[in-house]
Amino acid sequence: MKRVLTGIKPTGSPHIGNYLGAIRPALELARRPDLQALYFIADYHALIGVEDPTALADMTYEVAATWLACGLDPARCLFYRQSDVPEIFELTWIFSCFTSKGWMNKAHAYKARVAENAAAGEADLDAGVSMGLYAYPVLMAADIVLFDSDLVPVGKDQVQHVEIARDIAQRIDHVYGADLLRLPEALLDEAAAIVPGTDGRKMSKSYGNTIPLFAPAKQLRKAVNRIVTDSTPPEAPKDPDTSIVFQIYRMVATPAETAALRDRYRAGIGWGEAKGALADVLEAMLAPARARYDALIGDRAGLDALLADGAARARDLARPTLARVRKAIGIAR
Ligand code: TRP
Repeated sequence: MKRVLTGIKPTGSPHIGNYLGAIRPALELARRPDLQALYFIADYHALIGVEDPTALADMTYEVAATWLACGLDPARCLFYRQSDVPEIFELTWIFSCFTSKGWMNKAHAYKARVAENAAAGEADLDAGVSMGLYAYPVLMAADIVLFDSDLVPVGKDQVQHVEIARDIAQRIDHVYGADLLRLPEALLDEAAAIVPGTDGRKMSKSYGNTIPLFAPAKQLRKAVNRIVTDSTPPEAPKDPDTSIVFQIYRMVATPAETAALRDRYRAGIGWGEAKGALADVLEAMLAPARARYDALIGDRAGLDALLADGAARARDLARPTLARVRKAIGIAR
C-alpha cells in the first residue's frame, strides 16, 4: 500500500475554501483502499508565526475538530499532532546537516520575506527571519521522509518544499551509498478549483473574504449575502459563468441542481434568490458536520486521547526509519 501524507498547518477559523480546496480532496484520498493516509497537525510549523500560546493551542484543537467533523476516520487514517512525535525533530537535525544553506536561500517563503524587506527599504534583508522560518523546509522534509511517504498532496506553494525533501533524502542516500530513504512525490491536484471568496478573489483569511465552515446557520447566510454581485435587475438574464455565487454553488451542489440553477440564471434570477439557493445547499451540506464539530471542540480531553493514539501508531512507523538512519550515519549503539 502506498503512503500518502500531508501536514495541516493550524490556522484559525476554517472556511469553505479550506474545505473544498484541501480537506474534501484529502479525505477522498484517505478513503482509497490502495492508500494509507497519514494526516497530521503541523503545530511546530505554526510556531514560526504564532507567539500567543492560547491561540496556538486553540487553533490546534480547531483544526483537529474540523478534519474529524468533515469525516476523517481516525481508525483508518493516522491522525496525529507533529509535536507528539519526537522522532521528527531528531531527523530534522540530521537532515539539517545534509541541507545546503544555498537551498534554503532559494526557498520561496524566505525569498518572499527578503523581497518584502527590500521593498520596505529595510537595511537588513534578513530582518524578521528566524531560523525556524529559514529552515522550515527541513522540518517539512523530516515530516515527510520519516514515514516513507510516497505521495504528498499539497497546494502549488508547497511543491518546492516536497522537492527539497527529495533533494535532502537523495543527498543522504548518496553520501551513505544506500537506498536508505524513500523519495516522496508531490501530488498537485491540477484540477482543484480555486474557490472564490465573497469579493471574487481567491478565498483567503488574509483577504477577509471568507465564508466560514462552521459558523451558526444565520452567520453562514450573512456571509453568503456579502458575495459581490452587479446591479442587473432581478428579471434580467444572467451569465452563470461570471457569477461568484454560481462558481461556489457548482462546487457544492449536485450536477442536476447545478444545471437547474444555470437555467434559472438564463431565465433571469434575482441575486437575493441565487444567494438563497447557495446558502441552502451550503447549510444542507454543513449542518451535520457543524453539529459534530461543536461536540468535538467541546471535548478537548477526547481530542487529546484520539491524537495521542494516532501519535503512538505514527511513532511505531517512525522508529524503524530513524533507527535505519542512525545506524547508517554512525550514531546507533
Ligand atoms: N507547509 C505546509 C503548509 O504550510 C504544512 C506542512 C507541514 C506539510 N509539514 C508538511 C505539508 C508535510 C505536507 C507535508 O501548508
